[in-house]
Amino acid sequence: MNDVRGVKKFSPAAQDELNKLKDRLEVWTCRFLGVPWESFEGLSKLHKYLTEDNLDEFHYSISRFVWSDGGLFDLALREKDTWIELFNGDIDVQAYPHVRISRPDCASDNVGFHRDTDYGASAYEVSVWIPFDDVPHGAGMWTFGTAEREPLRNFDFLKRETEHLRGSKKNIAGAPYRLNNVILTDAERALMVHNSMRFGEYLFIPLGGIHGSEINSSNLTRVSVDMRLVSSRAVDETSTLHRRRTEPMGDGRGTYYRQLVGGSETL
Ligand SMILES: [Fe+2]
Repeated sequence: MNDVRGVKKFSPAAQDELNKLKDRLEVWTCRFLGVPWESFEGLSKLHKYLTEDNLDEFHYSISRFVWSDGGLFDLALREKDTWIELFNGDIDVQAYPHVRISRPDCASDNVGFHRDTDYGASAYEVSVWIPFDDVPHGAGMWTFGTAEREPLRNFDFLKRETEHLRGSKKNIAGAPYRLNNVILTDAERALMVHNSMRFGEYLFIPLGGIHGSEINSSNLTRVSVDMRLVSSRAVDETSTLHRRRTEPMGDGRGTYYRQLVGGSETL
């Protein structure tokens, strides 16, 4: 398996928003964990501070912090000119993006290789995956390499209930209550490539494509967010897109998407 760099770099204005958001996240993290700022080693060393007792509450709380902070929406506003060309029209952005925490050698922190379309997402949706630090080999997201064609076949799935009940804090923070992993042949697995990245880069993940990570084999905790984008005009009755656009999500949240680009901005 090889490293590839099929990633994009944020514009300077978006990078500035990302830097400021990371600063706020670190300050919030120190306060939440009761760690003095002077001794805090950074988000990439979170495994030193997180335990099985505080992990779920931390994950839920940092998610709510990110949602109320609004910095990711500001970042998206700074990057939207790039995305307008890609979507060729108006764009909605995920209103409550998911924070992911993947500690070294903790298989349960990862959901494995999957397609979000097998969880009800639409193939019109694209995820913008943003790490908060450099991502060394083994810590990141795996995808089919840009030179490789994904297998054109139906897959068998490894379905498994997780310990995260539907509507639990962990589930609200983005952890599935049921896993739905594609079963790949050895030859197909060998085509999956790891995306090593620098802080300030992001990865586009089409939700009909196979992606994921099974374990973080680096010695750093990877903290990332994934934020979906979808054309405001996309209609897909085979997915949950319409329901997510129109129904509040519960736990005090509104609908899944909010408008990022609309009307005359795209003309
Ligand atoms: Fe996914």
